[in-house]
Amino acid sequence: MQIKEGTAAVVTGAAGGMGRSVALALADRGVRVVVADVDQNEADLVAQEIRDLGGDAIGQAVDVTDLAQVKNLAAVARERYGDTQILVNNAGVTLRPFRASWDTSYDDYRWVMEVNFWGVLHGYRAFVPAMLDAPGQKHIVNTSSMATTANSAGHSAYNVSKAAVDALSLTTRKEFEGRGIGVSILHPGAVRTRIVTSERLRAAAEQSANRGVKPWSDYVIRAVDPIADAKPAAGPVDTDDPDVPSEWSQYITPAATGWLVVRGIELDLPHILTHPWPEAAIDARASDLKHGLPDYSGWQTRNVRNQQPLKISQQLRGAHHP
Ligand SMILES: NC(=O)c1ccc[n+]([C@@H]2O[C@H](COP(=O)([O-])OP(=O)(O)OC[C@H]3O[C@@H](n4cnc5c(N)ncnc54)[C@H](O)[C@@H]3O)[C@@H](O)[C@H]2O)c1
Repeated sequence: MQIKEGTAAVVTGAAGGMGRSVALALADRGVRVVVADVDQNEADLVAQEIRDLGGDAIGQAVDVTDLAQVKNLAAVARERYGDTQILVNNAGVTLRPFRASWDTSYDDYRWVMEVNFWGVLHGYRAFVPAMLDAPGQKHIVNTSSMATTANSAGHSAYNVSKAAVDALSLTTRKEFEGRGIGVSILHPGAVRTRIVTSERLRAAAEQSANRGVKPWSDYVIRAVDPIADAKPAAGPVDTDDPDVPSEWSQYITPAATGWLVVRGIELDLPHILTHPWPEAAIDARASDLKHGLPDYSGWQTRNVRNQQPLKISQQLRGAHHP
């Protein structure tokens, strides 16, 4: 969509990190932004920052895991700026340390899914009906991760939640065809934000640090995992230019993300990446899929309906191993 001056946007998880970067980049294009976050104080500060720069923004508290609060966010945005034309479902959390999928508690899975997936779904429930009715072009950006291609070991709850975001995004991209709403997936690589300390947002008793979680590193039987061993958020920046990465695992600042998202909205890109992608991972997935393609060249289509399952499976085996 064309981003015009006065366009109205809502960005969740906008009190810091990449959400703040997106809010700033949109505001720089004259977009009026609702800076939404579970951290109201920080959200207000980002909104103030935008106003100080000459833009138009308000801060709004929202816990995206609560549909009623997300509906309230939609109502506040409508009252202040009219129809929401750009929705950025960006709020997200992660677990530290990494842990084995079979050792990750159901509460951990639930918490990550509730924020990362249900938070996005609540965004759809609260905003999409009005967006469909509103005139002109609209756009939704859902923040996923490079994790959905790399699927690092020890990060299952996060990977699963972001895979769900990918599926919802790609499904709705098709459902919205001809209905005036574009959908993009933001896949950040390693970006130096507070995400690694997300568990600060959980009750103390639920935080991994207070539960003696066995880290994935205890299980590792091979070489180092670049994500599991990533440097802490406050550590030194490992590139000459902290805003521009050369690899997906190289930590950068969130500064460029906002511009990439603005560009992605304008070009209606299905996927927006912050890092040069691990081409090897993409190629490996494509290659794995291709290897799974069946060869039906020996398949006899006549009388298939009358055959017993055993015969069918024999025939399939025959097709693969003539
Ligand atoms: N930083 C990375 O390396 C990285 C990589 C891939 C994907 N991501 C994704 O990028 C998005 C932004 O994260 P970030 O890295 O900027 O981290 P961040 O911690 O700076 O930003 C996330 C924001 O979400 C907010 N939030 C958390 N739970 C919430 C809730 N229930 N309701 C409303 N707001 C909530 C937090 O307060 C925070 O301001 C997340 O979805 C994250 O999963 C980050």
